[in-house]
Amino acid sequence: MMLKSKHLIGLEDFPISDLNKIIDTSFKFKQILDSPGRKINLLKGKTLVNMFFENSTRTKISFTLAEKRLGADSINFSATGSSVKKGETLKDTVQNIESMQIDGAIIRHSHPGAALKLTEYIDGSVINAGDGSHEHPTQAILDMVTLKEKFGKIKNLKIGIIGDILNSRVARSNIFGLKKLGAEIVVCGPSTLLPNDVTKLGINVTHNVDEVLNWCDAVIVLRIQLERMHLGRIPSTREYHRTFGLTYERVNKLKKDITVMHPGPMNRGIEIDSTIADSKNAVILDQVLNGVASRMSILYLLLGDKSKKL
Ligand code: CP
Repeated sequence: MMLKSKHLIGLEDFPISDLNKIIDTSFKFKQILDSPGRKINLLKGKTLVNMFFENSTRTKISFTLAEKRLGADSINFSATGSSVKKGETLKDTVQNIESMQIDGAIIRHSHPGAALKLTEYIDGSVINAGDGSHEHPTQAILDMVTLKEKFGKIKNLKIGIIGDILNSRVARSNIFGLKKLGAEIVVCGPSTLLPNDVTKLGINVTHNVDEVLNWCDAVIVLRIQLERMHLGRIPSTREYHRTFGLTYERVNKLKKDITVMHPGPMNRGIEIDSTIADSKNAVILDQVLNGVASRMSILYLLLGDKSKKL
């Protein structure tokens, strides 16, 4: 272990020294990903299990790729097609998998707290790949790597976060992480999609998208969770697009360039226009590549052997 922490459950209580170490080491892994072999066997002999109880494209693929690039053995477990469908509990599922000699587990689950619970059931390191609306720390770390790559720093950066802050684990992890590293944050969205105690997070709030866009260096646009539309928190997707969408017209009238980020998956034409998502100011696909480097860094620092130097 090369960090103070054994697990990565969330950024709220994660040591700043560990966070900085992960971000800085991600750039070394990025160089490896850019080299001809793209591989370094720092986790050879380690076995990891990717446990996805919820759907994922980016996080699951990038963890799998990061494990392969590090020379680890990995198993992919999906709730669909497993004995979870016969009623097996999380505890039994995990303990059965662990008895097959696992060194670490990556878990995505719809219940906030699932990753923390897992630390009680297994001896190895646990990495939270998203637990309900609680935290998605590895997404926030790859976002911070992308910001540092673009701006050379995070301290004093002005970051706008637009959208469904209430239900977003990405927003929560970014708020905790970015604040720790000295960024200024303004969140923007309809009041129905902001937590009641949002200002307790030490950030500013606006309901005016143009205001936040004129202020920020970079904007993180969040996905409108269409699966929650039945709760009636927004009148319609068309109304949301008009009032809070990152539209071509809004971005085009700004007096400066801003960096556009989105964790994916995107609803093109709702929270973001395709012309903006595909524009030169968007770093959305850079975020995805940085996701592999960041996850290599996290895995290496949590599970690697100190004697195997990078
Ligand atoms: N950003 C993110 O978590 O994407 P996936 O749901 O595809 O993993």
